[in-house]
Amino acid sequence: METRLCKPTSFVRPEVRQLVPYEVKHMPECVKLDANENPFPWPVGMREDLFSEKLMFNRYPDGMAQDLKNAIAEYTRISSAGILVGNGSDELIQLILLTFGGLGKSMIIHPPTFGMYQISAHLTDTAVVEVPLLNGLDLNTEQMLKAALSPEAHVVIICNPNNPTGTLFSREEILQLVRESGKIVVVDEAYAEFSGETLIPEIENYPNLVILRTFSKSFGMAGLRLGYLLGQPETIAWINRARPPFNVNSFSQKAGILALGYLSEYQVQIQSIKAETQKLYEGLTQVAGVVVYPTKANFILFKPGDPDSWAEELLKRGFLVRNMGVLPTIGKCLRISAGLPEENDRFLRAIREISMGVTGV
Ligand SMILES: Cc1ncc(COP(=O)(O)O)c(C=O)c1O
Repeated sequence: METRLCKPTSFVRPEVRQLVPYEVKHMPECVKLDANENPFPWPVGMREDLFSEKLMFNRYPDGMAQDLKNAIAEYTRISSAGILVGNGSDELIQLILLTFGGLGKSMIIHPPTFGMYQISAHLTDTAVVEVPLLNGLDLNTEQMLKAALSPEAHVVIICNPNNPTGTLFSREEILQLVRESGKIVVVDEAYAEFSGETLIPEIENYPNLVILRTFSKSFGMAGLRLGYLLGQPETIAWINRARPPFNVNSFSQKAGILALGYLSEYQVQIQSIKAETQKLYEGLTQVAGVVVYPTKANFILFKPGDPDSWAEELLKRGFLVRNMGVLPTIGKCLRISAGLPEENDRFLRAIREISMGVTGV
């Protein structure tokens, strides 16, 4: 047989060609304030509990993740038939669009918001309709409803509190979208443990309401990739059809179950993170020329005069922050999440120095 030269590039789907890889800086030597993680170590005893488990790594995990779902059911008061677990909520966003999106369908988002919605939409051939936040902060409910009424629109995603602005939207406005759009409304509550607000009790009233949660933020398990979806059993069963059979590994399933047994310890961490976020917020607002956005999450969006040089100066001092680039209606800005108390004190000292023109150390 003749040998044929194969150029993989020529087979790449146009949707993938257009994508810019989601690259995150990996700089473990820095104080990491760029990824909205929980900076505290796991509650005392949890690590030991997890490593003393006799997990059978030569066997596939429980594909239904039943024990984990039972634990989540107790935490959320949603029956286990209304729960789907995923390899991070990133995977669940993709499963939602594989189920309800696709060619000829669209998803409505409210930029500026979490970037993975767009990426998953491209990968699943789902069109994206953008209804920017008013003043970069408030939902434009009227326009979102209008967009949702088009026949192609199948999914509306609301991020609450919103990443990267930290805004908590009005419960009534979200419920209006759930009631009047007639479409699948996904509420991403990745930061709900910090805001203290949730629409979980509304699930029983609306088959089109789906709530996305994660163990990556308040539970400090970003490295283990564990998220979950909540909805009415029939809605969840449809999304479950698109799920790979063993999408959550045994180790992460067990870690999730254990974490939910340490709720009171996590509560202490959450309170401390909220207090630290407030401290950072106040510190930032005291720096002349910096615009700071109010937040209900564990991160803060702010606009110094020259965000690029601030990010550079902070990096020279060992702080990794998220340079958001140019956000719609807001412009260039930076985002930080709360670190450990002592790290936050050093961060505030660093920004005072930078604002006074003291350059890199
Ligand atoms: C709003 C929002 N949703 C989902 C995620 C992804 O979470 P996970 O780590 O569970 O994939 C993030 C992570 O930053 C986020 O900010």
